[in-house]
Amino acid sequence: MAISLQKRVNTITSYIVRPYTYPFLLRLIKTTLFGGSTSLDHTQDKATIWCRRRAINTTEAIHKITGCELLAPISCTFESIFKQAESRISQCPQKMGGAGNLDLIYSIAHYLKAVRVIETGVAYGWSSLAILLAISKQSSPCLISTNLHYSRYGDDSYVGCAVPNDLKQFWTILREADRIALPKALAMFPEYDLCHYDSDKTYGGRIWAYPLLWQSLRIGGCFVSDDIGDNLAFAHFCKMVRTNPIVVRMPSSTGEKYVGILVKRDRLPPRQIMF
Ligand SMILES: C[S@@+](CC[C@H](N)C(=O)[O-])C[C@H]1O[C@@H](n2cnc3c(N)ncnc32)[C@H](O)[C@@H]1O
Repeated sequence: MAISLQKRVNTITSYIVRPYTYPFLLRLIKTTLFGGSTSLDHTQDKATIWCRRRAINTTEAIHKITGCELLAPISCTFESIFKQAESRISQCPQKMGGAGNLDLIYSIAHYLKAVRVIETGVAYGWSSLAILLAISKQSSPCLISTNLHYSRYGDDSYVGCAVPNDLKQFWTILREADRIALPKALAMFPEYDLCHYDSDKTYGGRIWAYPLLWQSLRIGGCFVSDDIGDNLAFAHFCKMVRTNPIVVRMPSSTGEKYVGILVKRDRLPPRQIMF
C-alpha cells in the first residue's frame, strides 16, 4: 500500500516537473474524469474477427513482401547482441511493454534497404534494435523513435536499453507523447522508408497518428502497426487509404495478436470517412 502510494506520488511529481507533458496530462485527466473513450475503442471482438479472417503467419508474410525466405530468426543471426540485450533488460528495475514482431520488422527494413525509419513506442527497445540492425549497413541511416517518458523511472534511462551503444549513433528518441513528438519527428525528414506504430493503442490515438505517418511514407515504403486486433482503427484506416492489408498473426502473452502491414502505392491522401 505504502509502495503504491509512493509510486503514485513519484508519477505525479514526474509530470509536474516536466511542463512539456502537461497537454498529455490534461487529456489523461479529461479521459479519467469524463470518459474519453468512444464506442470505437470497444471494438476488439470485431477487430479480432477481421484480423483472424485475413491472418497469415510471419514466414508467409515475409515471403509475400520480400519474395525471400526468412533464413533464421533475427535472435539467432545476432545471437550475442540479443543475449547482451536480454542481460541489460534483466537488470531493468521496472517492467515495460513487450516486443513487436522483430523478424518481420527486420526483414522488411532489410528488404526496403531502409535508411530513414520512424517508430512510435520504444519500451525496452526490441523493435528499435531490429530496425537499427537492419539499417546500420546503409549510408547515413537514421531511426527516429517517439516514446512517452516512463515517469516512474525519473530519468527514463532504461527506455531503449536493448540497443547497444554502437548503434545509438543512428538513433534519436523523442521522449514525449506522440501528439507532441510525432509532428517534430515527421518534420525531421521529408520522407520515411518505413513506419512502425507501437505506442498509443486507443482508437483515437491510432486514427490521429496513422494518417500522419502514412503521409510521410515514400511510395513503396511500408507501414507496420502492432496489436491491430485491439480495435477497428487499422481496419478503418485500410479503407481510408484504399489499400489491402497484410495481416500477420503471432503468439502473445494472451494467446495471439496481430500485426498489420500496408505497402504505399500512391500519393492520394487518406480519405475522411465517418465510421
Ligand atoms: C508495447 S511498448 C513498445 C514496444 C517496442 N516497440 C518493442 O518492440 O520493444 C509501447 C510503448 O509506447 C509508449 N507509449 C504509450 N503511449 C504513448 C504515447 N501516447 N506517445 C508515445 N509513446 C507512448 C509506452 O511508453 C511504451 O514504451
